[in-house]
Amino acid sequence: MTDQKTFYITTPIYYPSDKLHIGHAYTEVAADALARFKRHQGYDVMFLTGSDEHGQKIQRIAKERGVTPQEYVDKIVDGFQHLWQTLDISYDDFIRTTEERHIKAVQAIFQRLYDSGDIYKSEYEGWYCVPCESFWTEHQITEEHICPDCGRPVELVKEESYFFRLSRYADRWLKYVEDNPEFIQPTSRRNEMISFVKQGLEDLCVSRTTFDWGIPVPFDPKHVIYVWIDALANYITALGFPLEDQSKFERYWPADLHLVGKEIVRFHTIIWPIMLMALGLPLPKKVFGHGWLILESGKMSKSKGNVVDPLVLVDKYGVDAIRYFLLREIPFGADGYYSEDALIKRINSDLANDLGNLIYRTLTMMNKYFGGVVPAPGSEVAPDDELKRVAQEAVTNAQAAMDRLEISTALEAIWDLVKRANKYIDETAPWTLAKNGEMERLATVMYNLAEVGRILAVLLVPYLTTTPGRIWEQLGLTGSPADVGWDAAKKWGLLTPGVKTHRGAPLFPRIDLEKEEQTVEEQKQPAAEASKPEAKSAQQDKISYDEFAKVQLKVAEVLVAEQVPKSKKLIRLEVAIGEERRQIVAGIGKSYSPEELIGKKIVVVTNLQPVKLMGLESNGMLLAASFPGEGEDRAISLLTVDRPIDSGASIR
Ligand code: ME8
Ligand code: MG
Repeated sequence: MTDQKTFYITTPIYYPSDKLHIGHAYTEVAADALARFKRHQGYDVMFLTGSDEHGQKIQRIAKERGVTPQEYVDKIVDGFQHLWQTLDISYDDFIRTTEERHIKAVQAIFQRLYDSGDIYKSEYEGWYCVPCESFWTEHQITEEHICPDCGRPVELVKEESYFFRLSRYADRWLKYVEDNPEFIQPTSRRNEMISFVKQGLEDLCVSRTTFDWGIPVPFDPKHVIYVWIDALANYITALGFPLEDQSKFERYWPADLHLVGKEIVRFHTIIWPIMLMALGLPLPKKVFGHGWLILESGKMSKSKGNVVDPLVLVDKYGVDAIRYFLLREIPFGADGYYSEDALIKRINSDLANDLGNLIYRTLTMMNKYFGGVVPAPGSEVAPDDELKRVAQEAVTNAQAAMDRLEISTALEAIWDLVKRANKYIDETAPWTLAKNGEMERLATVMYNLAEVGRILAVLLVPYLTTTPGRIWEQLGLTGSPADVGWDAAKKWGLLTPGVKTHRGAPLFPRIDLEKEEQTVEEQKQPAAEASKPEAKSAQQDKISYDEFAKVQLKVAEVLVAEQVPKSKKLIRLEVAIGEERRQIVAGIGKSYSPEELIGKKIVVVTNLQPVKLMGLESNGMLLAASFPGEGEDRAISLLTVDRPIDSGASIR
């Protein structure tokens, strides 16, 4: 036990605010993925979050509402914890700064800093931003007297205060940061902080007397301790420093990673390390400043009102879809945009089409060809080796990306395997093997697909919380993929032939983007009208039934649709026709956007000779009505089926 490697990861402790938005969920979900990844690798993980409950801002809001600050924060912190549970955040401890364990420890820390001469009494006169709980000097706030961080008005404060000797540590700080390039990440933030400190550090005002919602200075209780000193200390008070049993502190400190939003990097990389230097404690190994999740109208924040409620989103789309979006959409460190459209696109393409279909098709074929029992594989034929190699690479690349904190790159690496496996189905065409009675080859193909499913379940454990278990269960495996550990993804062939699979519902239902806007009737209307001119010509030139019967028409479901580069008209489609997947290139780009095509059930001629359009093979033709003819601006309406029916259904 004692030689087990530890990993201590923290997120900020959150200010109580009525509505947590999807941006808050972002920090927490990212940290959760990293924590789960380390646990999966066998680390003893300590994952800490909490709430930052003191300060002038909270006191003001509570007063406006006519409740005590404590009543106000109690209610809101309940809401936090509920949200984190809904998002399956696996924190090991949740620290509230209003807890006795924290208050006593912060007072002891303040006392130590006073005793060592790092804190002294003087008078403060300067500017304060209440929403940011942040002090500013005259030259930092410009002529308009607004906060350089948030743009809101600052207030002039003048009061007797205690000060922390930041200035004393500036040189030591610079040397440390220069000697430890990994300490502040990403590098752009590190450079910002270095130039900030090079301009000179002023001592920091660390107590206030004009309000009382805070931790009293132990030797001068008309002062409350500055809320950032109180808050930053949480990372060690939660471990019991300095008053309780020190075993947790000894085990986990220094933290491996403080994960914070970019606007609070300054507090975490300057004030906090200097507090630790003054206390004679080691510094955290890394502070990583991630970017913001942005809506069109700027960074989301509770005060700007453009809030997106993660609880509503989870209810609508499921926890794994939200987690996947947050982890995949934004390159870690950069800012990223949120929109419900972008979320739906991710769900439809990556989760429903790529992952969901792979598992569903695999288990459907397993039922059909082997009665649901995983067969023993036979000898290896191309492209089996390539599939195995891609599986190995997915594990290696995902692991390397996680070690660099590039969560979105890790998911991309895993999806390389998902996509390769879907392609493997198309290449091996199990339905043809079955038709030709090549059962040994079919057995190998089906074993390999099930094995990919097993590996994916193991790889997805850090990111998605219900899907890996569902895949595991559908594959007929016992226990859970979290139990077997990350390394179980590194070995090919751990799936034992003979297990009985249980196909379930598709993992992710596809979401219909235009469901609300367009009714089935509206879709049918133009198609019926447009078919009139065609009907006339059919009258003139009759064909026999046998001639007609030569044309194979089937229902196909659009899985992927994208504009062909450099073409306005052509759209590349990937469709499912039963278990088969095909690429069709169609000239419908002027009437349909790729997004609205995804998930549509259309009608396809399946026995046409393939053709090449702009270098892409088109394997089949989709049926569409056009009106008033062949001109550039003609209206096109795709033929669809008007009742739910599986793709692959034949039409006659
Ligand atoms: O700063 N996108 O708390 P907080 C990404 N109490 N991250 C966002 C975000 C967005 N749109 N909005 C907020 C505090 N966050 C202090 C921390 S730690 C000792 C004290 C992130 O509730 C933000 O960047 O304002 C920060 O990391 C976290 O949510 C908490 O923000
Ligand atoms: Mg904030």
